Amino acid sequence: MRRTAAADGNAKEYIMPDIGFVNGRFMPLEEATVPVEDRGFQFGDGIYEVIRTYHGQPFELDAHLARLERSARAIELPLPWNLQQWAAYVHDGIKRGGHAESKVYLQLTRGAAPRDHVFPASTKPTAVMTVREMRTIEPALQASGVAVMTMDDWRWGRCDIKSVNLLPNVLARQTAKQAGAFEALFIRNGQLTEGSVSNVMVVKTGRLLTAPEGERILSGVTRTIVLELARKESLPVEERFVTRDELSHADEIFLTGTTVEVLPVIRVDGKPVGSGKPGPASLKLQTAFQRFVD
Ligand code: PDD
Repeated sequence: MRRTAAADGNAKEYIMPDIGFVNGRFMPLEEATVPVEDRGFQFGDGIYEVIRTYHGQPFELDAHLARLERSARAIELPLPWNLQQWAAYVHDGIKRGGHAESKVYLQLTRGAAPRDHVFPASTKPTAVMTVREMRTIEPALQASGVAVMTMDDWRWGRCDIKSVNLLPNVLARQTAKQAGAFEALFIRNGQLTEGSVSNVMVVKTGRLLTAPEGERILSGVTRTIVLELARKESLPVEERFVTRDELSHADEIFLTGTTVEVLPVIRVDGKPVGSGKPGPASLKLQTAFQRFVD
């Protein structure tokens, strides 16, 4: 819930509600509930999306909904509505919340049924949505860049599915936070995959390197946009895995994602990246991304 001053300059304040949504019905967020036997709760048997607005409009909504559909198909979960209906619900939720900028969370699970690993025969999926005020990353952090730490990538083998099973990501981000780092970078078999909440890009001798799409990473919506922008800026792009050794000799590193946008990395495991300041390619793409969303 957020209080905001009246637009007419009157001292009166309005309450901006956080919005909840369960199976096609909107309600105040605090009233939104799902049953204890929901399979999302008991098995993590579900998928999700996080969408943010710029200038009040959902950013790359079609790409997020296409990924929702891909994730659902990958776990054999039927979508309760077509993508036009999902889009209508997202727009409606944003309007009802009335926030200056919104963060929309969508989750779809295999529904509520007596606990059994096998899919229930005739259970309807549970679709929930929350709409909250989007708190953007601090401009000071965007300008200064962040420290990250590397960690073993012991997640499952289908990181392309945006599954609600986020325990390794949760533990990694918490470990990073306790160590004073902003993000955890996952390394699998000596290769950089992605962050716990973001994709990772590395600049080395004028080339932009990032892990290829496939089962090892989430195909980030922001990643796709930033790679397009890089190509437009004539920065050669190589979608291939970066080794741990290459990571430690990178000229520049940055993160991409809905919540982090384009965020320079200035330290990895306590060691400075390049000059120890955000590099020119990172700053150029950060600016290009800002221009793109504006
Ligand atoms: N995370 N990789 C992982 C593991 C992620 O969780 C995310 C996004 C990304 C970036 O994807 P996109 O550009 O589409 O946001 C990459 C969301 C924001 C989250 O879980 O909160």
